[in-house]
Amino acid sequence: MPCLFDRKAPPIVTTMHSAMPADALAGHPDGAPGASAGTAAPDQGPAEFTLLGLPRPLVTALARQGINSPFPIQRATIPDILAGRHVLGRGQTGSGKTLAFGLPTMTRIAGTKAAPRRPLAVVLVPTRELAMQVTDALEPLGRGLSLRMKTVVGGMSMGRQIEALRRGVEIVVATPGRLTDLIQQGECSLADVRITVIDEADHMCDLGFFPVVSALLQQTPADGQRLLFSATLDGDVDKLVRRFLREPVTHSLAPATSPVDTMEHHVLQVTRDDKFQITAEIANRAGRTIIFVRTQHGVDRLVKQLARVGVKAGGLHGGKRQNQRTRILAEFREGNIGVLVCTDVAARGIHVDDVSLVLHVDPPADHKSYLHRGGRTARAGERGTVLTLVLPNERRSTETLTRRAGVQANRLKATPGHPRLAEVAGAQLPSGVEIPVWEPAAPAAKRPRREGGHGGERRPRRFHDRAARGEGGRGERRDPAQHREGRSATERPAGRGSGPRGGRGGRGYGG
Ligand SMILES: Nc1ncnc2c1ncn2[C@@H]1O[C@H](COP(=O)(O)OP(=O)(O)OP(=O)(O)O)[C@@H](O)[C@H]1O
Ligand SMILES: [Mg+2]
Repeated sequence: MPCLFDRKAPPIVTTMHSAMPADALAGHPDGAPGASAGTAAPDQGPAEFTLLGLPRPLVTALARQGINSPFPIQRATIPDILAGRHVLGRGQTGSGKTLAFGLPTMTRIAGTKAAPRRPLAVVLVPTRELAMQVTDALEPLGRGLSLRMKTVVGGMSMGRQIEALRRGVEIVVATPGRLTDLIQQGECSLADVRITVIDEADHMCDLGFFPVVSALLQQTPADGQRLLFSATLDGDVDKLVRRFLREPVTHSLAPATSPVDTMEHHVLQVTRDDKFQITAEIANRAGRTIIFVRTQHGVDRLVKQLARVGVKAGGLHGGKRQNQRTRILAEFREGNIGVLVCTDVAARGIHVDDVSLVLHVDPPADHKSYLHRGGRTARAGERGTVLTLVLPNERRSTETLTRRAGVQANRLKATPGHPRLAEVAGAQLPSGVEIPVWEPAAPAAKRPRREGGHGGERRPRRFHDRAARGEGGRGERRDPAQHREGRSATERPAGRGSGPRGGRGGRGYGG
């Protein structure tokens, strides 16, 4: 496959930057372990965001969240985006790409009011959860610029999305399926869109997404600005680049696939008979843990099996109703469950603070999937561990996969109770006393709604403190869009490579 970054035309300016130098983490709000502690260098601090060209209200809002110094991907891409260039941004998982595209996008459209149903910027992402997370990250920052934002995704009240669009929103964060539906209903037009961001761009070029993503881009003005971001921005995005980007500049923080250096990797060779017991011991560790399983059915089964031996875990996959999905993730974020068992619906972009271990119970489909799943830990300078369970017949393919991911994995023949499991993962024997299968609590009473956001509170929110929400909850009709999206618009056709591989019923993430 021709590599985007080797091509001669269209002209692409590629700049390589060192990935995540420690000084970039000096201002990390959580005082990230692995980040250099102490004060920022003299040329850093909030002033550096100002020097990059961001307006005062944004810089102030960032400082209120403890974000005082840009991360490298932000330092690299913000000036070019502000200058109106088309940008491809590649930075490792957890390196701060959301703000890298979000801050300059907000800056460029600030000061213009969107006409009803005609947003000025669109951010396209592959999953509903990621759309909500991006809105939650950007919306509080944009308030000082009087920017109105709305999440437009399937499985949530279409009526509220229509209401917001009718009033006018400057920035829409959407999954492709629901946005397409609203456009077809005449409730949204992309004719005024000046900036289109495609997050997880390589994934959005996968077979299931590509037609709908390119149809949406087609509806934006031809002279609009386009920004493509991902941790694995490889040749797959070539199709979009050729059709929709003009003289893009590529900012690459590391080689095409490169693991995060605060991440430790272990491949555990297990037998089929031991696999569950070892999974349960690892799941029973103390820290926040995400477990990836290939199918929706596999998620449900593992959650039940874990409950049978006394381990409390929540299951997340695209076959659940959206209000359940949202609540399960919220409960995990809030620490009410320590273990999340999920499909690849949570592999891309999802940020939860302090996830210290990712376990691949089923091996990922390819090296990119390995990097994205694993990237749910060791974010923003934190440390983290990635474990992969490998059956004898999966050894060769896993070796190829870790090699292609550029990962140096420690290998271990694991057996239940093996002391190394405790050392590398904090694994401990579960009680063996059966507990009920965990389900999220009933939705809280609805709070007053606030323009553009997902909750009723006014305090600035960070990614991690999204409260559980009732939207799309009890009594909500499963709208035809969600149904259709679940089956087609955002679903990869069966049997092809990585991506939204549904289990039961072959359903994808839902759009
Ligand atoms: N300049 C900064 N200073 C401190 N923290 C930051 C900064 N920029 C981003 N962060 C934090 O880093 C974390 C990860 O950011 P983000 O989710 O944007 O990563 P990403 O590069 O999009 O990762 P992925 O590839 O997994 O989508 C978030 O908690 C965010 O608040
Ligand atoms: Mg991201």
